[in-house]
This record gives sequence, structure tokens and C-alpha cells, in this order.
Amino acid sequence: MNAIFDKLDSLPRQRLAHLPTPLEPMANLASRYGDGQLLVKRDDNTGIAMGGNKLRQLEFYFGEAVEQSADTVLITGAVQSNFVRLTAACANKLGMNCHIQLEQRVAKNDPLYANSGNVLIDRMLGATIHTYPHGEDEAGADAQLESIADDLRAKGCNPYIIHLAPGHAPIGALGYVDAAREIMDQAATTGISIDEVVVASGSGHTHGGLLFGLRAYGATMPVIGICVRRDAAAQRPRIIERTHQIAALLDVANPVSEDDVVVTDEFLHPGYGQLNDATRQAIALAARQEALLLDPVYTGKTMAGCLKRAEQAGQDRTILFIHTGGTPAIFAYQAELSELTT
Ligand SMILES: Cc1ncc(COP(=O)(O)O)c(C=O)c1O
Repeated sequence: MNAIFDKLDSLPRQRLAHLPTPLEPMANLASRYGDGQLLVKRDDNTGIAMGGNKLRQLEFYFGEAVEQSADTVLITGAVQSNFVRLTAACANKLGMNCHIQLEQRVAKNDPLYANSGNVLIDRMLGATIHTYPHGEDEAGADAQLESIADDLRAKGCNPYIIHLAPGHAPIGALGYVDAAREIMDQAATTGISIDEVVVASGSGHTHGGLLFGLRAYGATMPVIGICVRRDAAAQRPRIIERTHQIAALLDVANPVSEDDVVVTDEFLHPGYGQLNDATRQAIALAARQEALLLDPVYTGKTMAGCLKRAEQAGQDRTILFIHTGGTPAIFAYQAELSELTT
């Protein structure tokens, strides 16, 4: 199609996710906001072990891991990380061992948080679990992961580390460069014109990759990143940097301008993995109007941002919400989600 997607298609990749995911209307929710349309990209339905956005990213990490003949994959994340759950799942599918490191990012003593949801699935999948006491020390968490990898090498294993910190190539973002093409192809086939996209912005692989892919495709609509981990002042430069890194990885010119990078931290408070009223209400509305299950950490906050945009948007605007998954985490937030009201 164009040089950027040709380059993407030449890179190592393991086909793991069930793609394409559906692009569907949220007609009940939209009817609350006038004549505009709301759409959802069902990336919660990517297939393996309860799915989610990270499967698209893992196709490229595992592409590289297989190319390097790795026998073990290592990753670090929050206790209720969806990424570590899906890494353990993909490792099983590909016959590799998996070591996951769970960081204490959310100050929660709830036994359900520590044992249910993603943690339960990590255990069912049989991953080797390590812990890291801090949640905001990316460098320290990475260093501990490296030392686990060194121990594995000393035992004759060939480990592959999935790094998330900004200093490493954003291999996972390639999954969302590809997702942008999938969305635009679906929109073209069904005659839909998308005016705006709303997506969670955490490590920035999803937001950065999607924005890059849309601009590579020639699509100029705004992409609003909803901050879920750090504030806008920290997140915006991170996404700008991600797009430069993606361009370097693909060895192409960066089609994203700095003005294209839009983030809001309006729904972040009181912090990562903690609920606020707008998010609670968004989760309740999505469940009751559309039977969509959203999580408190990522997709609930992103839906709160999407509904705010729907409220502000003019007539006839079509807004696309990217449902990035996170479903298992709802079982870790039982107390907070049992008493939702719209
Ligand atoms: C369900 C879900 N949505 C969104 C995100 C954010 O994606 P990214 O880290 O690529 O910014 C994550 C990250 O872990 C996630 O698990």
C-alpha cells in the first residue's frame, strides 16, 4: 500500500491475535449525545486468554523472540497487568517459558487485588512470578528483570526481555501501526468516516502506534490520548518520542507532527489504577447501555474521555473509542464495581 506498511509487513511477527476485531456502533450510548455517532473497536476481543490490545503488540515481540531462538520470555508490569497475563499466554502457545515480575504500583491491600483477576490467570497459565516492591521505578524494575535474565543465561537458557521503558525500541507499537490500517480498511469497506479517535495512553505503544499508522495511511483525524499512568506534561513528550522511535525502527520518515499529539489527564486522578466519579459513571453506562465491560485502570477512564468528547462534539461527528480490553481486572476491583450507579 505504501512504503511504511510494506516495511511493517517485512518485519518478524508471530500471528497470535484473532484479527480483524469488530468495528461496531454504540447506538444506545450515542443516542444520549444528539446526532453524532459513537463507534467501538473491539480490541478486547483479540482472542487468547481473555484478549486485549497487548496481543497485537506481542505479535511483534514474539516475532523477534522466535527469530532469536529464545526459549524464555521475561516481562515486568503492575500486579494486575494485562500485558504480563497475555505474555504468559503467548509463551505457552509458542512453547516457551515465561517469567513475569509484578510491581507494587497501586497501594491496595485487598486480597482480591493481590490474587484475583489477572493474577489468578497468571497462576493458571503457570508463569514463574517475581515481585518488585516499587511501582514508579521503571529503571529499577528493568534492572531486576535483567538480573533474572542473567541467572537464566547462567543456567543455559536463552531469554528474551520485553522492555517497556522509553529507552528501548517500541516494538509493540508496530501492532498498533497495523491496527490503524485495519481500522481504516474497515471504515472504507463499510463507508464510515471517522472524525476523531479516543484511546488509552499508558506506555504509549498503543497511542503512539495508532497515531503513526493513521498518519501513515493518510488519515488526519484527531487522536485523543487519555492519560492513565502519568500526567499530560509527562505523557505528551513521551508520545512524541515514541513516534520518532517508531520511524527509526521502520527506517522511514515520521508522518506525525508534534501538533498531532494530543493528550488529556482530566480522568487520571487520583492516580494509576484508582477510580474517580467520571470513570465509575462511564463504566456503569457502558455496561448498561452497550453491554461493554470496561476496567477501572484503562478503558473506564478512556470511556470517560470519550463521553466528554461526545458531549462537546458538534452534530454529525463520529467518534471511535478503542476498547483495549483489561476485562480480567474487574474481578480485582469487586468492591469498587459492585455499587455502580449511572
Ligand atoms: C487494557 C489496557 N488498555 C490500555 C493500555 C495502555 O496501552 P499502552 O501501554 O500501549 O499505552 C494497557 C496497558 O497495559 C492495557 O492493559
